[in-house]
Amino acid sequence: MKKNILVSIVMGSQSDWKVLSSTEKILKDFDITHEKKIVSAHRTPDRLYDFAKKIKERKVEVVIAGAGGAAHLPGMISALTSVPVIGVPIETKTLKGLDSLLSIVQMPAGIPVPTVAIGKPGAINAALAAISILGNKYPQIEKKLENFRIKQTKSIKNIPVNE
Ligand code: RP5
Repeated sequence: MKKNILVSIVMGSQSDWKVLSSTEKILKDFDITHEKKIVSAHRTPDRLYDFAKKIKERKVEVVIAGAGGAAHLPGMISALTSVPVIGVPIETKTLKGLDSLLSIVQMPAGIPVPTVAIGKPGAINAALAAISILGNKYPQIEKKLENFRIKQTKSIKNIPVNE
């Protein structure tokens, strides 16, 4: 039987993939079924609507949406579904991603977009946050996350070394 896709990674442009590929890497490490799509809120608005309206029936449980500039993609998706949408602000040339961060994080009350840091750290944390949400329902995923944290803690040295 084909497994449901648990996490959908969506991005406004092909150019966002260099950041969001870090999200996919973490999901792969945790064996989380996922998909990746380019869905632009302003260039492909019909695709956005179609995607967002079908999230629930496709049983996707978390959406990770990355966009840069006037980044309305995560907020628009969140407005069209009750499935959690995590926003990843993509770094931009002109404003270094502060534009993306504020566009995503400053949602008016009523439609939330939990938002992570700008760029690669955010892309990694978005995957870990999605895994944390899934861990509430799937004990195996929760266990993997706990093991990841233990390993991460053990990897931190007490004393710095010259590199
Ligand atoms: C946004 O515009 C995308 O999310 C991307 O971060 C930004 C620039 O897109 P491109 O001009 O590189 O396609 O929609």
